[in-house]
Amino acid sequence: MTTLLAFSGSLRAASFNSRVIRALPALAPEGVSIVQFDVTDLPFYNQDLDGETVPEVVAALRTAVAEADGVVIASPEYNHSYSAVTKNIIDWASRPLMQGPILGKKSMVIAVGPGPGGGRHCLEDLGKLLGLLGGTVVASVGAAKVHEKFAPDSDVITDDELATDLSNGLAAF
Ligand SMILES: Cc1cc2nc3c(=O)[nH]c(=O)nc-3n(C[C@H](O)[C@H](O)[C@H](O)COP(=O)(O)O)c2cc1C
Repeated sequence: MTTLLAFSGSLRAASFNSRVIRALPALAPEGVSIVQFDVTDLPFYNQDLDGETVPEVVAALRTAVAEADGVVIASPEYNHSYSAVTKNIIDWASRPLMQGPILGKKSMVIAVGPGPGGGRHCLEDLGKLLGLLGGTVVASVGAAKVHEKFAPDSDVITDDELATDLSNGLAAF
């Protein structure tokens, strides 16, 4: 069984990226299990909090990343890059120095939004960052006009192309 840890880099209640994360279990191929990690309570990175002991949620995050075979990060595109929430997850998971559990990890990056751009700047920057941390990005999935790609009031993706891209991405691990 391949276990993937999935995060949304948006704290917005109606976030499209969070909806995509919640859609993943139904799209995962056999043998791939998705564990969703809620980062709502993750504090803003502060080196003063990152000592011998760390906040409980940070310890839980680091353990979950370490135990996973890979991570799936869905980030909003903000100002032509990833969100600060996304960077915050990565910063916490990149420490302790040289031992951070995200270092060298396989990942899949996702960026969806209602605009026409399909999150491509976000995907480019996020892929570059994870690569600099020694990881391999096995799949990169963007989608424009994503508000048209879900069933109303549900997390079911009705757009075949997006659903297939996500399934193929999960299979790439
Ligand atoms: C501060 C800010 C900056 C944004 N910059 C971009 C951008 O550069 N490119 C883009 O396509 N959308 C941009 N958007 C639109 C977001 O990508 C869109 O609101 C998206 O739905 C946010 O993700 P979420 O639905 O997961 O919260 C921006 C939104 C905000 C709030």
